[in-house]
Amino acid sequence: MTRDTVAEQTPQTADTPSRHSVTLQVNGNDHALEVQAWSSLLDVLREQLALTGTKKGCDHGQCGACTVLIDGRRINSCLTLAALQAGKAITTVEGLSDGQALHPLQEAFLQHDAFQCGYCTPGQLCSAVGLINEGRARTRDDVRELMSGNLCRCGAYTQITSAVCEVAGIEQARDPQCPTIVGSVPA
Ligand code: FES
Ligand code: FES
Repeated sequence: MTRDTVAEQTPQTADTPSRHSVTLQVNGNDHALEVQAWSSLLDVLREQLALTGTKKGCDHGQCGACTVLIDGRRINSCLTLAALQAGKAITTVEGLSDGQALHPLQEAFLQHDAFQCGYCTPGQLCSAVGLINEGRARTRDDVRELMSGNLCRCGAYTQITSAVCEVAGIEQARDPQCPTIVGSVPA
């Protein structure tokens, strides 16, 4: 049963309004919105704000494709209620670049060939920004562990880890056990 189906079957009373007025600050811009009480931030970003860079993979908190930043911290937007995010700074993949200048992680993903289909890439990028903000990763293995909530169906993990290590300033950005050739995208 989908959330919408559940919602349709949930009786509404005068005391339980189904829609809420909320102003979301996304990528530095305020958006005054009417959202349903049960709407996920992911659905509001994609369907009401047309910010489709954030992807819906599992919609159950399992894949990380929907990762965005709230006040600099990475979260799964599929598990986050939009109505509760007023006053918080939300950053999606569309907000990472500075105009035409790509974010250093976006540049590093290009340099390291860190994607194939690219479906997971927005979530990987936002998660990596959050990881660097956290300041806990010291080694390549730390990066692999702390990025483990973001799945890549194509298996570009080696390149993704290398790109994140480079921007995080972690030595041995290239995996000596699995050297990659940019342009070949070995999985
Ligand atoms: S879509 Fe949110 S974790 Fe998969
Ligand atoms: S590049 Fe395709 S899922 Fe990651």
